[in-house]
Amino acid sequence: MITQDLSIARNYLQQGEVIGLPTETVYGLAGNAFDEIAIQKIYSIKQRPATNPLIVHVGSLEQATGFITAFPPPLKALAEKFWPGPLTLLLNKTDRIPNVVTAGSNRVAIRIPDHPLTLQLLQQLDFPLVAPSANPYTKISPTTAEQVEEYFGDRVRIILQGGACTKGLESTIVGMEENEVVVYRLGAIAVEQLESVVGTVQIRNQAEKILLAPGMTKKHYSPATPLIITPDPIDYQQKHPDKQIGIFLKGDENPEEVAPFFYKRLQELDQLGYDLLIANYFPEEGLGRTLNDRLRRASREEI
Ligand code: TXA
Ligand code: MG
Repeated sequence: MITQDLSIARNYLQQGEVIGLPTETVYGLAGNAFDEIAIQKIYSIKQRPATNPLIVHVGSLEQATGFITAFPPPLKALAEKFWPGPLTLLLNKTDRIPNVVTAGSNRVAIRIPDHPLTLQLLQQLDFPLVAPSANPYTKISPTTAEQVEEYFGDRVRIILQGGACTKGLESTIVGMEENEVVVYRLGAIAVEQLESVVGTVQIRNQAEKILLAPGMTKKHYSPATPLIITPDPIDYQQKHPDKQIGIFLKGDENPEEVAPFFYKRLQELDQLGYDLLIANYFPEEGLGRTLNDRLRRASREEI
């Protein structure tokens, strides 16, 4: 059931149930971060391996500070600049954060989402919320409440209606190694925006490492229709008149304008019964870098 009623959402969360929840990036599957049974439910609904940890969502910087042992100055500067917003920070956790949340790691991923309903909800609760993106494992992340309902139906108690996500791409995940600021997942905050605050950052896109590991053939963010990346989509389409081809992106679009609708458009094209979807990469800068990362992971092959 889709609802705008915050008190219903709050009650379910207090009872240890899982709900769909809007953020500015993508919708999440949320539960009480202190409730291990709620956490198990999230993993099981999402069919996600328990080795893949969850992001803890909080309502204020003070609340975040209570869950970590230290706040390295560069990460604190990023938090002050971008929170509430699509920035997730990896920080050393106190034992208030259960180990199941971090899959045993001593670092917890934390963010303050920038969505009025969800912020209000977080500020009313006396526990933080874990929330992975509300898609079945490896599927395309949802940017509307209706898409979450289509994915999970009655498997989630309710979905809080917060409209279409304004960013449409997951948060950028950042941490530190030695004295370097490291980006672990490209996201809705561009690398250049981070660098304007903390100087040069390293990019170690973990998800890519996971994909490259032997035996890992499953694609993330992937449509059921094969997606092919080609430098000239129109030319490709003309050369393959035997195939029903859907053009996803020609690559000359403005990445900032494409980002909010990227997943939705991919999702919709995927429903239309094409043999093949095609797209081209963006220039490797700004949100183009994030979109290229998602294109790479959604595609089966590059030509
Ligand atoms: O925009 C977002 O971040 C959305 C919205 C709902 O907030 N959430 C999201 O969660 O994208 P999820 O679970 O789909 O992706 C979180 C990523 C995963 O790749 C996970 O491995 C990584 O964050 N992660 C979470 N906790 C971590 C930790 N303690 N250490 C390293 N990586 C972590
Ligand atoms: Mg996800």
